[in-house]
Amino acid sequence: MALEKKIKISDLQKLKAAGQKFAMLTAYDATMAAIQEAAGVEVILVGDSLAGPVLGLPDTIGVSMDISVALTVAVRRGAPLAYLVADMPFLSYYTAEMAIANAGRYMVEAGVDCVKVETNRKQLEIIRSMVQAGIPVMPHLGLTPQRAIQLGGYKVAGKTAADAIEVIQTAEMMVQAGSSALLLEAVPPEPAEIITRRSPVPVIGCGAGKFCDGYVVVTHDMLGLTPRKTPKFVRKYADLRTPMQQAFETYVRECKTGLYPAPEHDYPMGEEEKAVLAEWAKKKS
Ligand code: KIV
Repeated sequence: MALEKKIKISDLQKLKAAGQKFAMLTAYDATMAAIQEAAGVEVILVGDSLAGPVLGLPDTIGVSMDISVALTVAVRRGAPLAYLVADMPFLSYYTAEMAIANAGRYMVEAGVDCVKVETNRKQLEIIRSMVQAGIPVMPHLGLTPQRAIQLGGYKVAGKTAADAIEVIQTAEMMVQAGSSALLLEAVPPEPAEIITRRSPVPVIGCGAGKFCDGYVVVTHDMLGLTPRKTPKFVRKYADLRTPMQQAFETYVRECKTGLYPAPEHDYPMGEEEKAVLAEWAKKKS
């Protein structure tokens, strides 16, 4: 069901309190965002996952603030009611000053409701400073793709008891620092359940099991648009790549064989005007 009113953090908190789940998806353009809002998606994320589908990059490292702000502005135009979250790109929050300035751009230029930061406990001070400056922050814990190069790949976080305790404690520190919500990526369901149960703020899972308050996946993955293998936690709700390619092939064929455009696609002239034009062309030839 389409969203009917602006979704605020208090609405997500009410859903959490009532034990009702909510849905979050990525969008990088106004069309996709409008379709999602019409479908009732409460939270839209302009993720730096835009790197692959939009920019054709192999990872998220090359996403810039300028590109991300421009796309976030478009998404907000398409989805004025959704709770809009924008991803802070790699190195855009390396110091508190940078984090506040860049998050401020998302808020002022694109009207986001929150910014997401791939982070860990070493950055607690930066999170605190952002909150202090009035920025709603969603720490992204667990697997943090921006650190994949440093860590040597994409790794599930919290598989050992010690790692699980570490992620639980970090989540609690982030909440104490004033975070508005948490996002857990590739975290086993057991620590995710503990975090969600103890957290006063909504917890969103991305491959973190069923106990979270809301769930997020990359839209291009769930629509079957992504050519690469998708992560284990993604369910494909459609296979849109195939019909899209078929439509493009049919278009190419019809352009080449004269089937397109057909008379119904023309903007015809009136009979009198046609006659005048024909007379003019005759004189010219
Ligand atoms: O960038 C992104 O889309 C994300 C989601 C996968 C959570 O961080």
